[in-house]
Formats: sequence, structure tokens, C-alpha cells
Amino acid sequence: MRRLIALCLFALMGLVTTFAQVKTTLLISEPRENQIISPEIYGQFAEHLGSCIYGGLWVGEKSKIPNLKGYRLDVLEALKQLAIPVLRWPGGCFADEYHWMDGIGPRDKRPSLTNNNWGGTVEDNSFGTNEFLNLCELLGCEPYISGNVGSGSVEEMAKWVEYMTSDADTPMANLRRANGREHPWKVKYFGVGNESWGCGGSMRPAYYSDLFRRYATYCRNFGTNQLFKIASGASDYDYNWTDVLMQNVGRRMNGLSLHYYTIADWNKKGSATAFNSNQFYSTIGKCMEIEKVLQRHIAIMDKYDPKKNIALMVDEWGTWWDEAEGTQKGHLFQQNTMRDAFVAALTFDIFHKYTDRIKMTNIAQVVNVLQSMILTKENKMVLTPTYYVFKMYKNFQGATVLPLQICSEQKKVTSERGDQRIVPFVCATAAKDKKGQIQLALSNIDLENEREIAIQFEKENLTPLSGQLLTSEHISDHNTFDKPNTVKITSFTNFKKTADGITVHMPKASIVVLTIK
Ligand code: AHR
Repeated sequence: MRRLIALCLFALMGLVTTFAQVKTTLLISEPRENQIISPEIYGQFAEHLGSCIYGGLWVGEKSKIPNLKGYRLDVLEALKQLAIPVLRWPGGCFADEYHWMDGIGPRDKRPSLTNNNWGGTVEDNSFGTNEFLNLCELLGCEPYISGNVGSGSVEEMAKWVEYMTSDADTPMANLRRANGREHPWKVKYFGVGNESWGCGGSMRPAYYSDLFRRYATYCRNFGTNQLFKIASGASDYDYNWTDVLMQNVGRRMNGLSLHYYTIADWNKKGSATAFNSNQFYSTIGKCMEIEKVLQRHIAIMDKYDPKKNIALMVDEWGTWWDEAEGTQKGHLFQQNTMRDAFVAALTFDIFHKYTDRIKMTNIAQVVNVLQSMILTKENKMVLTPTYYVFKMYKNFQGATVLPLQICSEQKKVTSERGDQRIVPFVCATAAKDKKGQIQLALSNIDLENEREIAIQFEKENLTPLSGQLLTSEHISDHNTFDKPNTVKITSFTNFKKTADGITVHMPKASIVVLTIK
């Protein structure tokens, strides 16, 4: 242990310059209270945006693309592998212009709509409430519905809840029965508006607080269904929004949302695939800045709710690059490289540290939009590097966090906008999974150097059983429809048990997940 601390001090003081030889050190401790990683932290988001729903998840029963009752089979099977805990729908900005009654009943009788937020695309409403909730059943995940506060009425929202969850002999439950669904679905998570400060109605926080109170009052619990009501939260650094909502809404909400995107600059987002090493490191800096943002929102929540009854739900996060060339404007279709994989891994490492407050997060978005798991083009499908991170981290769902102290050299990065941030070369997270095994995730973001990591355990020395590796020759590598396997998970064995713990030898720019017992 003393040797570990000494090495750590040297590294931090910058006394060692040839970092290929410096050991990064990691001490894994015993669990503390309240440290369960809520499975919903691994949540997904599907908005009516571009080809996320139409073409991505849903092709319709008459499509030549192999499907199960209209859902793309290839996408369905790939998503099942991720054990998705929760899926948010129908938006995003789309939610506050969505009128759910237009999306029920015989599909050929449903009116079309113009998707005003996202490129003005005309949609035929063939994917609506029944299609979404049945998809969640197929995936075995909780649905998370975003209700329309911006342009909808209290009555419309109340009836939607009744349509989905009531088993009584009432007009809305009977309408559902007439549409082929006898029993109500279980719907737990219900969002009362989305980005109500912006596309969801351009409101100020005190006004929205009152609207939340009013709308939420009529979102009833039918039978045994208990709604978990989520208020539309702040974007990034808007701490006042959180403060006003905590003060004015308080325990009337079960959760408060937060959106944080890893964006270089809203006016100059940059290419998803063509970037230099400085742009890579500054992306990592922006990604990791979420930790400070979380800490400040959590501190405000703690002030009003010290017992942590209200959950923080980061229900939109991920990278946002320029739309891919040749794709339709407003559809937010972007490629996904090893850089995106790091953003996913490092963000999870941070979320795991705040499990007593953060109970759900939803990466934006599941298919074909922003930092997707999956990209599709007609009948082709590719899995992205981000998909593989979700797969490698799957066993963290429901696991108990093991606090850790990591000592890694750091790098100062200056973004093109001039923001200065410091990032560690090695990041990690550890947890005891449901089988009693330890999952340890390590990221070496160093583009130049391999790294040796010396791991010790607070209590007893443990044995590494197996490892998975995600890396590629170039940080900008990605999977395309023609070359779908450039980046993929491989087996990792470059670790050994020592007298002190475990030593891991990580390739440059790599993500490793070890199973230890
Ligand atoms: O995820 C894309 C959009 O980003 C969502 O619709 C909106 O809520 C956010 O601004």
C-alpha cells in the first residue's frame, strides 16, 4: 500500500516523464451504503427524429426488411443483447407537439403529422402508443413516456395515462380494448414535459413549476400502477432551474431531469469522424466536465432534499456532432467512433459515483440519431463502438459500487474555444455484480502510450477471471455498412495476479472490462 501511495505521488507531481513506464495505481475498497447502480442508468431514448423510429426500430408489417409485427428483427435482436432497462419515448422536443390520440386505432385511418422540430418530415403515425408499449414488452424494459405540456392539455395527458394503465370500465380503457389490448400496460416512468425552458414551451422555471403541479395532479395511479413523475429539468449549467423546481415542486415530483451533451461548440460541432488528437482530448475534457455539473445540481437538490427522495434523471446525454454528409438535414444522423466509445465509458464511470442520487439516464439516442447504439440503412445494420461499451458494461446494472482511488497521470487540454480542462489518462469504475463477481472497467485514453495498471484491494487479494477489450488502430475508427467489424469487442488476457493484487497491461486508446473473483 505504501508503495502504491508513493508511486501515485510521483505521478501526480509530474516527476516521472516517461509515462509508458509509469504504473497507474488503483485501490478498490469495500462497498458503502446506498451504492447500488440502478439498472435504469443504462437507459435508452427513442424519439420521433430522423430514422430512429421509422426505418430504425419500425418498418411496418408489409416491409421487405425482416420484421416481427413491424419491428425490425435485426435491431430487435441486437437491442436484446444489451438488456435495456428502460426506453424513453416519444421525445425530446417531439413530445411537446405529440398528440397521442392521432397514433392509435387502425393504422390506415391515422392522420399524418409534420415533424416540425426535425426537418419537417411527414410521418404517418403508424408507430404510436400501442406499438411503443408492445416494443417495451418485447425488449423486457420499462417504458418511460414523455407527456405533452408545451402544446397539449391537462385532459389529453390525463386520458393518455388512463388509456395506458386503467383496467376499469371507462371510456379510455375501453378505447384501448377496442384497439386490441385487453389488459393495461404497466407504465412507471412518466415525464411531465421535456425541455420546458426551450422546445417544450420556452417557459421560465416558476411558471413551469406551477404547470408541473397542475398537470401532475391529474396523472392518476390506476389499479396497482404507480407513476414515477419526472419534471422537465435543466440543461447543463442552468443551476437556477434546478433550484426553482426543487423549491416550488419538491416532493410532488419523484424525479427531476437534466440534459448534458458532449458538444464542442453549438455553432461548430465538428465532424464525427475527422478530428485531431487535440480535438479528441478536448472532447474527453467536455465529457468529464459532467461530473462538476452533476455535483452542483446534486448540491442544490441536497439543500432541499437531504434524504435524497427525489431522483436525478439524466434523461438525455451523449455526443452531438455535425450531421453526416449526404444525410437529411435535421435528422441528426452521425457516425460513431472509438472517441464516442470513450465518452460512453467515462460517463458511466462518473454516473456510478453518484448512484445515491442518479437513478436513471438515457443516452441520446438508440438508433440512427446522435450517439446511437445502432445505425441502419435500408436492410443493413451496424453496431457502433458505443453499442459495444453498453454491452461490456452490462453487468454493472444492479451491481454494488466499490469505491476506488485511482492515481493516474493527467493531461491539460485546451479546446478550440479556449476552455482549459485537466483529464486523467486512466479512468476506472468497479462494482460487485449480482453473481458476486467484481466488474472492473478501465479506460486508457492515452493515444500514444500503453499503460500498466497496478490494482490492489482493500480487503483481500482477488483473482482475475476474464477480460474484454475494445480498441482499434485509429481513434477515429468506426463501423460502416461496408466494413461493419472494424471496431468490435475482443477477448483480453493481458493481466496477471501478483502478490499485491492484479497488474493489467492496457493497449493505448483502449477500454477493458475485467471480471474478477
Ligand atoms: O436528442 C435530441 C434533442 O435534444 C431532443 O429532442 C431535445 O430534448 C434535446 O434538445
